[in-house]
Amino acid sequence: MRSQTIHMPVKAAVIACCLFFALFAAAPAFAEETVCLQCHAGQPGHLSEPIGLWEMSVHKENGVSCHDCHGGDPTDFAMAMSPERGFVGVPSHEEVPAFCGKCHVGVKEDYSASAHGKALAAGGPNCVTCHGNHKVKRASLDLINQDACSSCHDYGRAADMKEALVATDNRIAALEKELQALHDKGIATREMEGRLFALRNDFHRLFHSVDVDLVIEKTAGFQQRLDEIAALASADQEDLGQRKVVGAVIVVLLVLAGILLLMLKRTYEGGD
Ligand code: HEC
Ligand code: HEC
Ligand code: HEC
Ligand code: HEC
Ligand code: HEC
Repeated sequence: MRSQTIHMPVKAAVIACCLFFALFAAAPAFAEETVCLQCHAGQPGHLSEPIGLWEMSVHKENGVSCHDCHGGDPTDFAMAMSPERGFVGVPSHEEVPAFCGKCHVGVKEDYSASAHGKALAAGGPNCVTCHGNHKVKRASLDLINQDACSSCHDYGRAADMKEALVATDNRIAALEKELQALHDKGIATREMEGRLFALRNDFHRLFHSVDVDLVIEKTAGFQQRLDEIAALASADQEDLGQRKVVGAVIVVLLVLAGILLLMLKRTYEGGD
């Protein structure tokens, strides 16, 4: 009996929590249910295929949906694909960089100035050649590989490019881990994380220049900025050590005070 009276409120609380979270998890899903998704889900073949691919993408994860790329009106069934509502349809090979570049402005600039961008009209690779169209994943240097980079020219220069980028990439990853560890210990790492994030972004768009000399030239600058962030992190690590010592001293003092109080109490009671 007794145990039941204790468990009932606990059960109710658990159920309430579950409902609460279910509602919150479902809310954004409802918000994303556009007419584009609703109608295309019922279309055959190449008209519904994009949905499944897009669902695995970094774009879906970040709330970038069909209409954000293709334009149109995601709230109006009848007018959804009307050019008057901004629908741009499917970009041609040459239109793709501007299509993606309306959001990825910096990458598009670097790409357009590169050997790849300049060869676009002659069949050079565009954004989709390397990243795919609907199943765009988070980018990494793994995108540079024999399969992806040897259909138009030999892999040699792609390999040189990769080699020039890998060392800095590894250092960024190591520093990210270090900051995470500091963060887990309760150190405020927001400013360092912000600087590392900015550096990471600058660094990862550098690839699009496909210019090995430029990458090597810029690597020194990146290494210096990384050194500065690493120095901040190790200063905080030391600070943490000092805080531990101070903490230990406080504990010892508290214990001593306790013993002292106990002894005082004893002498007082003894004298009674
Ligand atoms: C009422 C159903 C319906 C809605 C709503 C709808 N589509 Fe479509 N969509 C279609 C059909 C059917 C086709 C193929 C025939 C055509 O191109 O008109 C198509 C074709 C497309 C194409 C390929 C066009 C081409 O030139 O090959 C794209 C891209 C597209 N839709 C995106 C969207 C986007 C983005 C939205 C929302 C803003 C949307 N659609 C809303 C039914 C729909
Ligand atoms: C990140 C931008 C982006 C998003 C988001 C996106 N598309 Fe596309 N879509 C493209 C690009 C780029 C192409 C051109 C394909 C190519 O060049 O390979 C395309 C092509 C298409 C086509 C023509 C495909 C074919 O085989 O004829 C359809 C249909 C389409 N998209 C529908 C959709 C629908 C529906 C959604 C939402 C689930 C969507 N797209 C989301 C970029 C996007
Ligand atoms: C409406 C704006 C928009 C358009 C158009 C768009 N993207 Fe994105 N893209 C985003 C956002 C937002 C993110 C997620 C934020 C981030 O991490 O950069 C993202 C992420 C990415 C990433 C992963 C970045 C990373 O850090 O690894 C790649 C790669 C990418 N997009 C490629 C493309 C390609 C290719 C196209 C064209 C087919 C495209 N995007 C069109 C907004 C857009
Ligand atoms: C669709 C064809 C195509 C694909 C795929 C392709 N490239 Fe290229 N690449 C070119 C063309 C065209 C040029 C410029 C003409 C030339 O130098 O041969 C070029 C030039 C280059 C250059 C030399 C740039 C310079 O300034 O000399 C590098 C480096 C390069 N590509 C790297 C890569 C990497 C890395 C990949 C894979 C991620 C890749 N390419 C995939 C077509 C392609
Ligand atoms: C020749 C192949 C190739 C082409 C063409 C290409 N990319 Fe990339 N992209 C890559 C590679 C490889 C990386 C990863 C670079 C790295 O990790 O340093 C990348 C990284 C990215 C990122 C992530 C940058 C970040 O901040 O982490 C975005 C976004 C992106 N590309 C968008 C685009 C867009 C938009 C276009 C067209 C204007 C494009 N890419 C053209 C291969 C390509």
